Amino acid sequence: MDGKAKTMNHELVQERERELDTPGPVFPGRRSFLGMLLGIGAVSVGALLSVPLVRFALHPVLARTTETAWSDLGETEEFSSITSPAKRLITVEQRDGWRKMVSEKAVYVTRGANGQLRALSSICPHLGCSIPWNEGKGQFVCPCHVGAFAPDGALISGPPPRAMDELETRIEDGRLKVRYQYFRQLVPTKEVIA
Ligand code: FES
Repeated sequence: MDGKAKTMNHELVQERERELDTPGPVFPGRRSFLGMLLGIGAVSVGALLSVPLVRFALHPVLARTTETAWSDLGETEEFSSITSPAKRLITVEQRDGWRKMVSEKAVYVTRGANGQLRALSSICPHLGCSIPWNEGKGQFVCPCHVGAFAPDGALISGPPPRAMDELETRIEDGRLKVRYQYFRQLVPTKEVIA
């Protein structure tokens, strides 16, 4: 090979190297397409899995803040001969958002005008004090502002705007059950608030 041919050959080699160094148009290869599919799949699965978690997290906020349950007051037989209101303590569970509160509430079992068993809330409808039964007076007498109520819960005197609040009852297998609820204070009509 003479000098001229060598030079031409060298130039051809350099040109070929320049061509190889020049970046051409980039097409997504099979790997990047699979990567994209995997990414979409992972995002979709993540979104699907997060739905129950989000629902679980929001449930206390979206659900009713308080669920009312039935509590047992005892055998109806126990109350067959009562002559004055009988106090019973029940355990009430309340749910407020994510918090669960358990408290003990006093309920009075008494008799209505036609002799049927009734349950009264001991929370005063005036400002919420707990009303005890006063055996000597034969009345419920609220210690806060001396509101007085008859044995069946009717308002006798004082600042309370209405009678004591009657709770829903039912008899199940010979046992008296009560559904405990809270009522708005300072209003003349009974309004459930929880
Ligand atoms: S809170 Fe009962 S009379 Fe005022």
